[in-house]
Amino acid sequence: MLGLNIAAKPLFGLGLQVGLMRKSLVAGNWKMNGNSASIEELVAGILAGAGSSPAEVLVCPPHVYLAQVAAALCDSNVKLGAQDVSVEASGAFTGDVSASMLKDMGCSYVLVGHSERRAIHGESSVLVAQKFVAAQNEGLISVLCVGETLEEREAGNTVAVVSEQFEAVLDLAGIDAMKNAVLAYEPVWAIGTGKTASAEQAQEVHAQLRAVAAARSVEVADGMQILYGGSVKPSNAVELFAMADIDGGLIGGASLQAKDFLGICAAG
Ligand code: 13P
Repeated sequence: MLGLNIAAKPLFGLGLQVGLMRKSLVAGNWKMNGNSASIEELVAGILAGAGSSPAEVLVCPPHVYLAQVAAALCDSNVKLGAQDVSVEASGAFTGDVSASMLKDMGCSYVLVGHSERRAIHGESSVLVAQKFVAAQNEGLISVLCVGETLEEREAGNTVAVVSEQFEAVLDLAGIDAMKNAVLAYEPVWAIGTGKTASAEQAQEVHAQLRAVAAARSVEVADGMQILYGGSVKPSNAVELFAMADIDGGLIGGASLQAKDFLGICAAG
């Protein structure tokens, strides 16, 4: 019961109404790591402990392992997501994977706009918004990632950068789309660097992002899960997830070890 209390955040506007609480979500982004043997072991380890997680649990393997992981998760409560999706439905798009294919493989979530895709693959906010809509059209829940670089933070542009990234999606998909989507704030300077944003730094940006949504709909803003990502570990997850506007985490490196990932889930 204690777990449930920690996992659910009261909503600002509607918090007095019983039952309207935000549940927390802990998502593992495995990036381009693993092989069929290591993934079998990782999933078994996660399944052994995920049942007692106060947070919802999501894993996002590389595309080629989705079927393997889907089969292993079968009737568990652990959700399956992909790391990227094409804007196109089908056709001559070599190497791309469509939202309907992800759905067919058992995915219910997909990451869109991860900073590694924005930076390495040159994905613009407009393209990310189109991917979000492609996922939405297939009933997939997007985990929309936004985040600023160190340069942008030091120039005082954090809020402007993450707002632009978020608003590009809101402009194309509409605010109601966030009823079935998740936002993830991942400061680029904290990803894989061991430098976590402090709980206060993260909370400040999360509150700003919720305010961006609230300008369009207070109700949607209140219900929207906003995850923090960037060097989350079992040792810092409790403090981060305790913040009012942090509803869980998007985990990279630490999601590759079942023990660490479950330790983070326990903080959810
Ligand atoms: P790390 O947890 O390795 O910093 O990665 C965060 C991330 O990019 C998750 O999407």
